[in-house]
Amino acid sequence: MANPKSSEAGDELSPEQQKFQETKEQQRQQDAAAGQTFQSDSGEYLTSGRQKKEAKKAEKKAAKPKGEPVSRREFLNYAWGAALGVVLVEAGIAGFLFTVPRFKAGEFGGLFDLGTFSSLPPVDGPPISNLDGKFWSSNDASGFRALYRVCTHLGCLYEWKDQTFRFECPCHGSKFQKTGKYIEGPAPRSLDQFYAILEQNGQMIADITEGGEPLPAAENPDANVIVDTSKILKGQPH
Ligand code: FES
Repeated sequence: MANPKSSEAGDELSPEQQKFQETKEQQRQQDAAAGQTFQSDSGEYLTSGRQKKEAKKAEKKAAKPKGEPVSRREFLNYAWGAALGVVLVEAGIAGFLFTVPRFKAGEFGGLFDLGTFSSLPPVDGPPISNLDGKFWSSNDASGFRALYRVCTHLGCLYEWKDQTFRFECPCHGSKFQKTGKYIEGPAPRSLDQFYAILEQNGQMIADITEGGEPLPAAENPDANVIVDTSKILKGQPH
């Protein structure tokens, strides 16, 4: 029986030898497609195209310069920088919010433009309640006041009584004049009021001061009365 391995170069190959060579070549191609190392006829170890690509990739990766390690000093510098940045951003936001009014006009805590003298309650009539502003518009011969609706005793909402023409608190019976002045009861002081100004052509011409002097609205009938519900002036103790 012919031995396929014993044939020499130049010799005619027998059909068995040709079959052997073909089978070997097929095996080699299959190994290459699967990415396996295989041995050539001369005994040399060959690598497939895929293996070459992977080897190149690994080479490139190894050649890439690795990042320098961060020293302790650098780390602390970065940390301080980040903390400073946060503080500056917060300060900026707080500064911005400070410049934005917290209350809108016509909202409790903001400004109320009541118009000119003709829009105010008559000097000899009852006060008018302003529910949004939480005050009573009280006008008499001495001037105008915006009285805070809360009793100076324990914080109940007092009421206007037409029969007695005065304010009376339903909780413990404190009583006050139309001007807010204390009459009787457990309240320790006259009614509190809001700061207000008279304004004409963009200029302030009078305001209510800490002593609680009313606004001379009748003497300046064309001036606007503006109540600032962010500022409360305490009533006088009795
Ligand atoms: S709360 Fe008004 S009298 Fe007490």
